[in-house]
Amino acid sequence: MEKILQRVIDNNRNLYKYGKVADYIPALKNANIKDCGISIIDKDKNIFSAGDYNKKFTIQSISKIIALMQAILDIGIEEVFKKVGYEGSEKPFNTISYLGENKTEKAINPMINSGAIAITSLIKGEGDEKFNKILNLVRTLASNPNIDYDRDVYISEKNTGDRNRAIAYLMKSKNIIGGDVESILDNYFKQCSINIDTIDLANIGLSIANRFKDIEINADIDKKKISSLLIAIMTHSGMYNFSGQWSVEVGIPSKSGVAGGILSVVPDKYGIGFFGPSLDKNGNSLLGHSVLKELSKELNLNLF
Ligand code: DON
Repeated sequence: MEKILQRVIDNNRNLYKYGKVADYIPALKNANIKDCGISIIDKDKNIFSAGDYNKKFTIQSISKIIALMQAILDIGIEEVFKKVGYEGSEKPFNTISYLGENKTEKAINPMINSGAIAITSLIKGEGDEKFNKILNLVRTLASNPNIDYDRDVYISEKNTGDRNRAIAYLMKSKNIIGGDVESILDNYFKQCSINIDTIDLANIGLSIANRFKDIEINADIDKKKISSLLIAIMTHSGMYNFSGQWSVEVGIPSKSGVAGGILSVVPDKYGIGFFGPSLDKNGNSLLGHSVLKELSKELNLNLF
């Protein structure tokens, strides 16, 4: 397996030059655009890695999956989806436009920024408690108690996050979120700044792929139902307005983050973590697309 991973990384890593690193969050500009690494963990917990697999990066939008799970644990599926919809979106991750329409009563889905901020607002807790619950769930799912957040990235995003602020206040005006908007945003910016590597991501992916069988949860909800829901949402919205093409070409439910991470789940088989900060125009890792496409073909992982 490691030889296959190395070959796929080598075949694709020069494509970095067709993308660019995120710069709208100033701290992310420091990323090395050439980085490219992957880890896969199988059901027996064997870990296979290649490339820059041990570099740390911030989880960014991949945290939206974990926050969604925490909100479901706190208030249940039915209550969560009263404020956020189930459908995919043809608009970019940071779109405001749906919220400007009078008929919009919910955020479109939990993966675009509006939906994710609404999800964070639904997690129970005051002050930092929402963030601390998300951080603890990341640590549990990744089997890594040392995971923490990157203060510089958090401050950088907090100082420049006016688009997310606009989205959040619009949602408050429409009664999609309630309470202290700045505190909700603070929790959201912190959750996006959690520092991880590809092995952490692969472990999180394996927890979902394994239907959380080794994870203890404090809620009366079927764990298999939660994993099916997360996998379905990742399939139609995890790569935003590229999710359709991703499903056709890669066929592995995945969630991207703007620091270059991708979390992928092969149900009942593998968790996969990828890192490559050169991004395409949709804000997804450009190398992640080419590497996972080739790997999916090589290992026959396409679910469809
Ligand atoms: O809210 C933001 O814009 C970022 N913290 C997260 C966006 C993101 O990761 C988009 N994904 N590729």
